[in-house]
Parts: sequence; structure tokens; C-alpha cells
Amino acid sequence: MQPVTLTRYLVEEQRHGRISAELRQLISVVVRACTTISIAVGKGALGGVLGEAGTGNIQGEVQKKLDVISNDILLEANAWGGHLAACASEEMDHCQPVPAEYPKGDFLLLFDPLDGSSNIDVNVSVGTIFSVLRCPPQGVQDPRDEHFLQPGHAQVAAGYCIYGPQTMLVLTTGHGTHAFTLDREQGLFVLTQANMQIPAETAEFAVNMSNQRHWEPQMQAYVADLLAGRDGPRGKDFNMRWIASMVADVHRILTRGGIFMYPWDNKDPSKAGKLRLMYEANPMGLLVEQAGGLASTGRARILDIAPQGLHQRVPVFLGSRGEVQAAERYFQPADASLSASPGVPS
Ligand code: AHG
Ligand code: MN
Ligand code: MN
Repeated sequence: MQPVTLTRYLVEEQRHGRISAELRQLISVVVRACTTISIAVGKGALGGVLGEAGTGNIQGEVQKKLDVISNDILLEANAWGGHLAACASEEMDHCQPVPAEYPKGDFLLLFDPLDGSSNIDVNVSVGTIFSVLRCPPQGVQDPRDEHFLQPGHAQVAAGYCIYGPQTMLVLTTGHGTHAFTLDREQGLFVLTQANMQIPAETAEFAVNMSNQRHWEPQMQAYVADLLAGRDGPRGKDFNMRWIASMVADVHRILTRGGIFMYPWDNKDPSKAGKLRLMYEANPMGLLVEQAGGLASTGRARILDIAPQGLHQRVPVFLGSRGEVQAAERYFQPADASLSASPGVPS
């Protein structure tokens, strides 16, 4: 059978009325930029792209050279396309409108240009995460940060590109989650798994255990029960994986199931978790839900959160439906007393 390229897949989606020509073209431009990032990542030391950039971002994090390079590649690619009103990035303080001299469209693009940056220099998988929203009509000519503050269920597309042993694109336009593998010789993405389905049950969890003492009691109780395994209330042994690249951990979960967690912790009580709602939690949440899984803060569905800020952080529990529900049960009974404590997310 003829392989289905990404181009062919998108044309078919348009033909069936599931996406517009503009969205098809926007996704193509984003994916072309990801292919360029993949080449830069793949060069490593040979391309002089490893190490720190010597700058910081709005989050107060040290930027790696590849954070900056990837951000620039995505911005450059998307200024010309004519499908966007503005871009917002984890690496930029505010949104960047498409320059006045270029044609504009009514989409907004958000991205985490390089996710898992701590893994770049050790040759472990990293990726790009993106999310597409529709710009409110009043924002198209003068887009501002507030126009991006829409709940995750309003996303018209979301995806990530993982730069690992293979470069893969995982994409949803709200009609299932589909995986494409880059044929490096041809420079083409080919559909390799249509309609990914996350198994409802799992015996694998992903969390940074070094934060354990900073978690709230419900989280402590949940993970203690996972660790107790067959001898505890869960009655089965659990395995643990933590890659420290969300793209790689989520990719494993989309492939074989599991639960990924980055809960709130009191290392810095002003931050409601580490991961960012707009660039990480929302796009991954849509991909996971479209694959039959759940994405939760532990207390509420991530895609229903009304964002307050472009760089807002949020606790994340996502993956196998049954296991996310199991985690949520720990947060229910004591909710009222806990949400009264300063800094604890509601
Ligand atoms: P980023 O590199 O975009 O800042 O994201 C890193 C995130 C995410 O990819 C990963 O799951 C998590 O941070 C790792 O956190 P720890 O350093 O606590 O392991
Ligand atoms: Mn990230
Ligand atoms: Mn990043």
C-alpha cells in the first residue's frame, strides 16, 4: 500500500471538511520548521549548537543555544505564511504579532520551541510542542497577549515533534491523535500510526521523585501506594520512568500507556507546578484526550482551565484514563481544607 505522507493526510482532512486550507498550510509551515530544528539538533557539537546561550527567559530559566535557535526558526518560518496573527513562545516575554508588512491570518500559534533542554547536551530525546488557537476577530489586526488566553478545549490543532532515535510528529486537529515518522532521506513525514490509543490501565508512572518531600500530602499518599506495589492497596507492582523531557515521557505514554505527573510542590509556593499551561499542558492534554486518555490538574480537567496569563504554570497528571482517575481520587476528600492553604492550586 502507498505510504500516506503528512501532506497527503492533511489534504484528505481538508477534503473531508475537517480542517481548512489555511490550517493545513499553517501546520505544514510549523512542521517544516520542526524539520529544520531536527537537523540542527542532529548536528550536535558538529553544528556548534550545544551548551548555554548566555541569556535567560521570562521564566527565569537559563536558555540553551538550541532554545534560542529553535525559537528563531519557528518565528522566521511563521512570519511569512499569511495564516497567523501572532506567535507566543515559552522563550518570549510577550506575543509577537506578524510584522505589519506581511499578510495576516486569523490563527494564533503557541510553542515550546525546545522541550527537555536539560537533555540536549547529553544526547537524550528533546522536542518541540505547539498549539493553534483561533484569534478573536478584534485581535487579528492588533493581537495582544490577552487574545491567547483561551481554554485548551478551544485549540484547533496541537502536536509535538520529538527529536529522538527517529524524528516523529504527533498531531491532532481534534479528530484523533496520529503519529508520523520523518523519512530523513526523503525529507517527508509518513503516517506510521493512525488513531493512537492509550491503554486505560497501566503499571508505569513518571514523576521526578527527588521532589517528593515538597509535595502536598495527597500526592505523597498516592505515590506511596504506587510504591507499595503488590503489598499495598493497589495490589500490583508499578514500574517508574522519568526522562525529564515531557515530549519523550508523553510519547512513551501515547505508545504504551502510563501516567505522567508534575504536581504542585512547595519548593516555590508561588508557582502552581513547573509545567506551562499554554505551551505544554494544553497541547499535550488535547493529544492525550484525543488518544482516549485524561489530562488533569488532579482536581480539574486541564483543557477547561480559563488561563490567567501567557506563562501560567499548572500541575499536570496525564495518561491512562484509569490511572489518572485513581490519582484524582486522592485529591478529592481533603480538597476544601487544602485549597485554603496559601499557594496550593485549586
Ligand atoms: P523545558 O526544557 O521546555 O523548560 O521543559 C522541561 C520540562 C519538561 O520537559 C520535563 O518534563 C520537566 O521540565 C523536567 O523537570 P525536572 O528538571 O524537574 O526533571
Ligand atoms: Mn518544556
Ligand atoms: Mn522549552
